[in-house]
Amino acid sequence: MAYRNLEIAHRGAVRTITVNRPDKLNALNRDTLNKLTLAFAQAAQDDAVRVVVLAGAGEKAFVAGADIAEMHGYSTVQAQAFSRAGQRLASAIERLGKPVIARVQGFALGGGMELAMACHLRVASEKAKFGQPEINLGLIPGFGGTQRLLRLAGRAAALELCLTGAPVSAQRAYELGLVNRLVPPEALDEAVNALADQLAATAPLAAAGVLDAVLTGGEATLDQGLEFETQTFALLFATGDMREGTAAFMEKRKAAFKGE
Ligand code: COA
Repeated sequence: MAYRNLEIAHRGAVRTITVNRPDKLNALNRDTLNKLTLAFAQAAQDDAVRVVVLAGAGEKAFVAGADIAEMHGYSTVQAQAFSRAGQRLASAIERLGKPVIARVQGFALGGGMELAMACHLRVASEKAKFGQPEINLGLIPGFGGTQRLLRLAGRAAALELCLTGAPVSAQRAYELGLVNRLVPPEALDEAVNALADQLAATAPLAAAGVLDAVLTGGEATLDQGLEFETQTFALLFATGDMREGTAAFMEKRKAAFKGE
């Protein structure tokens, strides 16, 4: 697979999708957004892919947001379509059915922060910066930022970041619960790879069940979420991986999960 503005690499069961417009700090123009959507759809369908890493090329940025030059001339109708396309991509990442890790080394601003928040886990360099600066352009976030930031970090943080537009340090993002692992820049790849390998070795259907239960539960009442958890838990008793995992425990050996 080769896409303009995207690089796709494989390491075992881990697929890394890298936004590759470093001269524009990996800003998301419509073409890149479309290619990302395709790349994630392919990753979803490929059973050999157990974990996806989303990254940005170069040292300076994960993704510095939607492409401002492109947006400048948009009509309201085009803006609506662009927002919907960004939201669809973010939802597709969130609902991929396999873990997605954001590897954040520099600016994760606007649409970049929104994509990072749609990923299930975020591993960040201490030099990363997170922010929703759209207000400085006379805009608000349009790829789900107001909603995911609210859900991930709460109302105070969502309002602070979206109203001031000021970026926050990786340390502050970590304190807000936006970052799962905070590491020195030189340790970023090692930390991402270690987490990706750990997740790739888990039972894929159980991982999908965790994602499904947590994401569904986040939008449901406690009773609805608990019922969903019970149904998902019970369904996993139909999998070979559950038999294998429990047998391996009893036989004191490492389980070999097949995603069946
Ligand atoms: N859209 C389009 N182009 C962008 C961009 C974006 N979101 N972010 C950066 N770029 C481009 C710059 O225009 C510049 O292009 P040029 O060399 O052709 O002029 C190039 O990327 C490098 O960016 P530059 O601004 O020169 O780097 P910097 O180190 O001085 O500043 C930032 C870095 C991230 C602070 C600054 O680029 C910025 O504020 N970007 C916009 C962030 C934003 O508002 N995102 C939300 C959009 S909705």
